[in-house]
Amino acid sequence: MKVIIRNNSAEGSLWAAHYIAAKINAKAKVSNKPFVIGLCTGSTPIETYAELIRMVKAGEVSFKNVISFNMDEYVGLPVEHPESYHSFMHRYLFDHIDEKPENIHILDGNAPDIEAECAAYEKAIVDAGGFDLFLGGVGEDGHIAFNEPFSSLSSRTRVVTLTQDTREVNARFFDGDFNKVPKQALTVGVATVLSSKEVVILAFGSKKARALKDAIEGPMSHYCTLSGLQNHPAGTIVCDENSISEVKVSSYRYFKAVEEAENL
Ligand code: GLP
Repeated sequence: MKVIIRNNSAEGSLWAAHYIAAKINAKAKVSNKPFVIGLCTGSTPIETYAELIRMVKAGEVSFKNVISFNMDEYVGLPVEHPESYHSFMHRYLFDHIDEKPENIHILDGNAPDIEAECAAYEKAIVDAGGFDLFLGGVGEDGHIAFNEPFSSLSSRTRVVTLTQDTREVNARFFDGDFNKVPKQALTVGVATVLSSKEVVILAFGSKKARALKDAIEGPMSHYCTLSGLQNHPAGTIVCDENSISEVKVSSYRYFKAVEEAENL
């Protein structure tokens, strides 16, 4: 696992956007095959998306040959609801880049047969060639996508029940009203994320400090599903001084030394 530490979320987001764009461009140089990317929602990736939008508009990267799959969606929330992850992704990314509409995949939380929807999603990922890169965030309790604590680290796309903690944290998007936050979601599994050739996780701010400590220094455990990243050959966490503040000084120094030695 690599840990990239930047001063703040703005610098971390720039690093992530440029890293993703470089990966898309590198594949386009050697192959006609699409770049398959996993995408996340939440407040964390917004600055990264803004920089990717700028880069697309400046001709520095193109999403014309990119296929994307979002990690999750609420169950039962109308697609046109401003807080559906469909709305979020169009607002903060898809409406401003050149990705083809048919290449955008987001789980349908209103599908009549939810199990069939989840199975079809896993199949569509395989049919697209599998993920080149999965971009994710992390919940305050260490959850990745909507894989709440005690989700199996070998889980795949499925319906999940959200914890009270997650619904309370997400109430800020629903007029501060916990009761308006859906109780269930569809989510890719931990194993779906880890099936990607590469995983990049963004985590900024002191609210994420406990999650990062558990994920980086704790045991690999279903208690903190991001800790599954420890078993991935190409996992990177992009964080800031606040979110990395709970790890041991020796861990912090090691990550900084790697950054310096590898010019990351
Ligand atoms: C939700 C999403 C996660 C996201 C997390 C953190 O639970 N399902 O994918 O990582 O929120 O959100 P934020 O970036 O707003 O802190």
